[in-house]
Amino acid sequence: MGVPFLLAPMAELSHRGLRELIEKFGACDEYFTEMISAGALISGGPFESWYTDTGPCPDRVVYQVAGPDIELVAAAVSLLDQHACAGIDINMGCSAPGIVRTGAGVRWMASIDRAGDLIRQVRKRTRRRLSVKLRTGLEDDFEYLAAFCKRLESEGLDRITLHPRTAKEKFKRYARWEYVGRLRSAVRIPVAGNGDIADAGELARRASGDCDAVMAGRLALRSPWVFAEARHIEKAAGMAGFQDGPVLPASIDLEELGFEFLDLLARYQPKEFHTSRAHRFFAYFCDNFTWATYLKNLLGRETGLSAMAGVLAVYFRDHPEERLKKIMVHER
Ligand SMILES: Cc1cc2nc3c(=O)[nH]c(=O)nc-3n(C[C@H](O)[C@H](O)[C@H](O)COP(=O)(O)O)c2cc1C
Repeated sequence: MGVPFLLAPMAELSHRGLRELIEKFGACDEYFTEMISAGALISGGPFESWYTDTGPCPDRVVYQVAGPDIELVAAAVSLLDQHACAGIDINMGCSAPGIVRTGAGVRWMASIDRAGDLIRQVRKRTRRRLSVKLRTGLEDDFEYLAAFCKRLESEGLDRITLHPRTAKEKFKRYARWEYVGRLRSAVRIPVAGNGDIADAGELARRASGDCDAVMAGRLALRSPWVFAEARHIEKAAGMAGFQDGPVLPASIDLEELGFEFLDLLARYQPKEFHTSRAHRFFAYFCDNFTWATYLKNLLGRETGLSAMAGVLAVYFRDHPEERLKKIMVHER
């Protein structure tokens, strides 16, 4: 079997509802939460209990925290440490202007000393597995990246996830996956790779490559079954150590999955989040369909989960051929 699969932290997307949906198929080894604002957590924001919900598998959920200064992040880590979880991750990769301006996200990568001090302080607050998720840096400079990561390692960091693009690149150009292997050779702690995995075949291929874990984000929104599918591809390729494997039907009922996601939002997210979280998810999930843009537009105009369920019902009534997605791995 290849290395572990991780669900990426994605704001407004990596919440309990998505985890429940993916767990139905299995094979995702760990789930990162969306970034939790250190400031909001400490000041006891009204939605914090939703952000800190690690269901349905607390021992496989990694909290991600984002914040602009050392004391704030360290205090947030102390709070998160009180919850059952698999580990705590610090966001050093977000390049959204609103986050970077405050000194959070990828801005931590501007100074090795400041980031090193952060890890030293945070290390004192938790004995849980401590990781960072980062980009290549503010510039495309591998030597700087390696020096940065070595320093964090020397301060007690346990793991790294690299999304190998610079801050400015956002989602432009293909992720430089060769940096994952190079970074792995430069540090002693495990390095997970992340970025641009397009399908289950690529996920399985990356998992047998030069990295300690593979993280996928947008692909898992389009195909919540993709981790299970990748494990089946590994099995078909005769990789050792794979016995029963996760559940993978011969075809996926996309209509049922869409409705199920709406139900999960209703159960596991506050009402105030329903519309925004549904819009976010369907912006990716709808890419399964021939009429993706049309359907996204229709859903985007609706507020409330039942209105969106109505749009889905009409779409599948008019396009029944879009309902079932065949999983090819069964035919090999
Ligand atoms: C909508 C969206 C929200 C994201 N939010 C976060 C976040 O909260 N924390 C983080 O570290 N990265 C965040 N990312 C980056 C992803 O974790 C990941 O690094 C990126 O999407 C590349 O992986 P992918 O090609 O598998 O999607 C976000 C990405 C997207 C598309």
